[in-house]
Amino acid sequence: MVEWTDKERAAISDIFSKLDYDEVGQKCLSRCLIVYPWTQRYFGAFGNLYNAEAIMNNPLIAKHGTTVLRGLERALNNMDDIKNTYAELSVLHSEKLHVDPDNFKLLSDCLTIVIAAKMGTTFTPEYQASFQKFLSVVVSALGKQYH
Ligand code: HEM
Repeated sequence: MVEWTDKERAAISDIFSKLDYDEVGQKCLSRCLIVYPWTQRYFGAFGNLYNAEAIMNNPLIAKHGTTVLRGLERALNNMDDIKNTYAELSVLHSEKLHVDPDNFKLLSDCLTIVIAAKMGTTFTPEYQASFQKFLSVVVSALGKQYH
């Protein structure tokens, strides 16, 4: 089981409490689709992804960005059992959507970049370390079904 210090828990809660899900969700998913264009293959039903501008203005991408962050909130609320919390989502992404699990890490890195840019100096090295740990547990839990 993953152990969390009080400081790590406090840092992660603080980051989430300041998070604008709509804005950050849209920015991190668009960034992922733009800088790692192969990730677009899973979003064929989302309409126009023709170029960076189209991706950033696509309302379905924006909406899905919010969905992903709400999905992450489930990990925040179940910090001591992230693996089981994501059992169903892991099955969905592997068996139904056939998402390559390497992409989970790419999306989580985009999220860190967007949050770092928004929080500025309040995203301290300690905060970053705590958040990276949180995301790596999420990525591992989402990838569970693939092992
Ligand atoms: C759907 C979360 C990473 C592709 C979803 C849903 C959630 C979610 C909550 C909705 C599930 C439902 O409708 O029951 C996450 C989280 C991720 C992640 C927390 C990692 C941090 C990815 C990545 C890709 C991806 C990296 C592809 C590159 C999709 C697709 C859907 C989906 C295509 C279905 C969208 C639709 O048709 O509405 N994801 N996801 N996800 N996810 Fe992920």
